[in-house]
Amino acid sequence: MHSKKHFIANWKMNGLIKDLNHISRVSDYLKKIKKNDFNCTFCLPYTLLGLAKSRFDLKKINLGAQNFSVQDINSGPYTGSISINMLKDLKCKYVIIGHSELRAKGETNLIIKTKIKYALEKNLKIILCVGENLMQYKANKSFQIVKNQLKSVLPKNKKDLRNITIAYEPIWSIGTGIIPHNKYLNNFFNKISNYLKKDFKFSISLLYGGSVGSKNIKQFVNINKCNGFLIGGASLRSKNFIDIIKKYYN
Ligand code: PGA
Repeated sequence: MHSKKHFIANWKMNGLIKDLNHISRVSDYLKKIKKNDFNCTFCLPYTLLGLAKSRFDLKKINLGAQNFSVQDINSGPYTGSISINMLKDLKCKYVIIGHSELRAKGETNLIIKTKIKYALEKNLKIILCVGENLMQYKANKSFQIVKNQLKSVLPKNKKDLRNITIAYEPIWSIGTGIIPHNKYLNNFFNKISNYLKKDFKFSISLLYGGSVGSKNIKQFVNINKCNGFLIGGASLRSKNFIDIIKKYYN
């Protein structure tokens, strides 16, 4: 189960047209190594999604978006908004939902739940982000927080759950260079996995996100239930991203 590992790039508000070269370099690398047991996805800003698709032969790379608007599934009078149908039109396969940077701007569990519903309706695969802040971590509330985030938004049926991957991203680890200790992570991933099996009767792929880079990737090899990574800063340059994959496997 979950033998496929995920390496998912989250470019956030980064990347100009010239930076698409980094994706094509990753694509060339993936073609060269002929490895089929992992999934590589780039979640780009809207401005680059269509271009990436039309410019490159990205057979080995999936494209994903980082967000979409919840006002309407298709279209409507919502200036500056992008609908899930527009992402579908761009042949996007994945979408990130519930990232802490959007939760911090007011995205509630209710909004996240609606987004999950919309994405499922349009057959997009979901990377659902969850995670606690530093205060909650220090107060030993991490699992309680994450469990509540999952409980509030996850659908119950297996058909839907099959299209969801969960990314555990402690907020205090994002962009800080600080990552949790191995023992903590192993224990935490086991707890999430057991909770999902017990309450949802399903085993959902679990990723880790927060300051993942080529210097610390080896640490994650021994986290049994960790099926891959959501990578921000270190995904912007092809060399860093490729180094992460290389070091994980060697
Ligand atoms: P980071 O970001 O790798 O730069 O810490 C991860 C994320 O926010 O998804």
